[in-house]
Amino acid sequence: QWTTASIVDDQVARIRTQIGDGHAICGLSGGVDSAVAAALVQHAIGDRLTCVFVDHGLLRAGERAQVERDFVAATGVNLVTVDARDRFLDALAGVTDPEEKRKIIGREFIRVFEQAARDLKAKGEAEFLVQGTLYPDVVESGGGTGTSNIKSHHNVGGLPEDLQFTLVEPLRLLFKDEVRRVGLELGLPETIVHRQPFPGPGLGIRIIGEVTAERLETLRAADSIAREELTAAGLDRDIWQCPVVLLADVRSVGVQGDGRTYGHPVVLRPVSSEDAMTADWTRLPYDVLERISTRITNEVADVNRVVLDVTSKPPGTIEWE
Ligand code: XMP
Repeated sequence: QWTTASIVDDQVARIRTQIGDGHAICGLSGGVDSAVAAALVQHAIGDRLTCVFVDHGLLRAGERAQVERDFVAATGVNLVTVDARDRFLDALAGVTDPEEKRKIIGREFIRVFEQAARDLKAKGEAEFLVQGTLYPDVVESGGGTGTSNIKSHHNVGGLPEDLQFTLVEPLRLLFKDEVRRVGLELGLPETIVHRQPFPGPGLGIRIIGEVTAERLETLRAADSIAREELTAAGLDRDIWQCPVVLLADVRSVGVQGDGRTYGHPVVLRPVSSEDAMTADWTRLPYDVLERISTRITNEVADVNRVVLDVTSKPPGTIEWE
């Protein structure tokens, strides 16, 4: 019978055997898997682990702080944050095609992470690379090494040949619910352990149109209000996720106070799902929708309309891009 404590003990022992007195590096995405993988390795080898967090500027409000403050407070991990916000904005300038955006974000992410890995390796502080590969990922990729799985932008299996790392995958035998329990056992905060899915390309694929600093500010403000109200209503565990999407190239006429406005709509996309392969649109209570709508239109300059996406998946995907 596997208890969570025995999973932790077992993995910590395996990690110690594998890494010996070596050093490891782990990219943190802000998500559950990389956080728990890093916490396990930190538990096993302490400050011989360095975590790298790439701030690509496409994060939601408070996400960087959650990693820099809450994760570090809970684990005591060595953290290097790379501020790459300008670099990503420059690379995305003028780009509107969804696939092109994804490719650019993935490519820049790998480059920035690779540089950080190179720097640490040069100092002799990274021979091992920690990845949060889960059991379902292993199965999906045919039981291979786990380097070929999904999510290209998080998958640092894309590092160049001359930058050899040995992979450490402490979650390889676990399912998501076990990963969450391990996270709690290791003292990670609920906000990290029960975080809803958020795509690697972040808000970059939730701005329909070109990504600019100003549009990111607008979307971040609207998203943060929606999240606050959903949390306050106690709905976080009932919904899978609720993307907020800015239709940056659409304008519509509105009226506020005694003035005419010509602003942008935001879309609320609350979904219920088991695994994101299929999803149903969530029937959110009207009073919650009303609070979100009123607050967004009052508090976010440039947004004068809030609309609700009532499309299931299929035919709609969860994200709009
Ligand atoms: P779609 O839009 O394909 O999304 O229905 C399914 C789930 O995957 C998330 N998603 C991503 N996650 N990198 C990620 O790590 C990505 O590029 C990416 N694209 C979509 C999405 O938020 C949903 O949970």
